[in-house]
Amino acid sequence: MDELQVDIIGPGAMGLHCALALPARCQVTLRHPDYREGTTEISDDTGRRRQVRTRPLNDPSRIAAALVTTKAGRVASAVQTVLPALDAEAEILLLHNGLGPQDQAADCMSPGQRLYVGITTEGALREGPGVIRHTGRGSTLAGPWRTPVTPGPLIEALCQSSLQAHWEPDPSQVRFAVWRKLIINCAINPLTALHNLPNGGLLTDTYRPAWVALTQLACQVARAEGIRIDVPEMLEQVETVMRATARNYSSMQQDVQHGRETEAPQILGELIRRGRQHSIDMQPLEELVSRVVNSGH
Ligand SMILES: NC(=O)c1ccc[n+]([C@@H]2O[C@H](COP(=O)([O-])OP(=O)(O)OC[C@H]3O[C@@H](n4cnc5c(N)ncnc54)[C@H](OP(=O)(O)O)[C@@H]3O)[C@@H](O)[C@H]2O)c1
Repeated sequence: MDELQVDIIGPGAMGLHCALALPARCQVTLRHPDYREGTTEISDDTGRRRQVRTRPLNDPSRIAAALVTTKAGRVASAVQTVLPALDAEAEILLLHNGLGPQDQAADCMSPGQRLYVGITTEGALREGPGVIRHTGRGSTLAGPWRTPVTPGPLIEALCQSSLQAHWEPDPSQVRFAVWRKLIINCAINPLTALHNLPNGGLLTDTYRPAWVALTQLACQVARAEGIRIDVPEMLEQVETVMRATARNYSSMQQDVQHGRETEAPQILGELIRRGRQHSIDMQPLEELVSRVVNSGH
């Protein structure tokens, strides 16, 4: 098997988890605006360790394959920054939650470059510099965003990695998966953040009406966007996720608790924007997002 250089843009919980998961034949470089050129060791609580390179985000060294693992709000600017370094046939996989940055990234890439979108239910948490905790085993799907493409060496490496990613060749199925995750995030994350609850805390009668209404609203936007979401099936799916992750705290809940910037404006803001375009009353979600944003300060 050939060696593959993989740049990871966004060396946080998910970025380091992916770096540790890639097969040994991958040479991993972590890119961050504050990094200097060097090497470092990364590790997790399961005993995995790896030596990786570090480089500034705007380092001119060529990028053939990259994973973008920043939060949603940073994806477009990070991709813009690395554009001059991208090979003519570079592969880029975006792994953030939410909707919006996929199109922004696709708009600035050249026709020969391949943009993939990944959806993962793996879980990881940052424990300290270069150290993460693997908090949940899940599944990972990756596929093209706008038009079908032939998967390249990056996808081959991901499928061989401990993420055991699955290649989905149909862009409409990838879009469907992004929307499903978005609806689940919309139903669970802001409420857990606002009420400081683990995901399973929403299963009581007190919170059920709120997450049911949020799911229905998000499904209404999805359907207006031409995504064939089945509302009762989606409600069932949201409840299944709450039960399966009952003790886990959503990333939004954790961001609020730690006083960090949340992804609420990016993940839910795009849903609000699209809902408004279809003349759907998005006020309940708008109010919720602003309460989440304000509760963090
Ligand atoms: N963690 C999970 O379990 C999980 C699961 C599924 C999906 N996701 C999604 O994956 C995305 C990343 O989540 P995460 O938990 O890994 O977040 P995270 O731990 O905050 O990691 C984001 C990383 O990106 C870095 N960054 C910020 N701006 C950057 C830039 N311009 N260029 C390069 N790096 C930059 C951050 O650095 P600083 O810390 O210095 O800002 C941080 O290292 C989110 O959209 C999240 O919803 C996460």
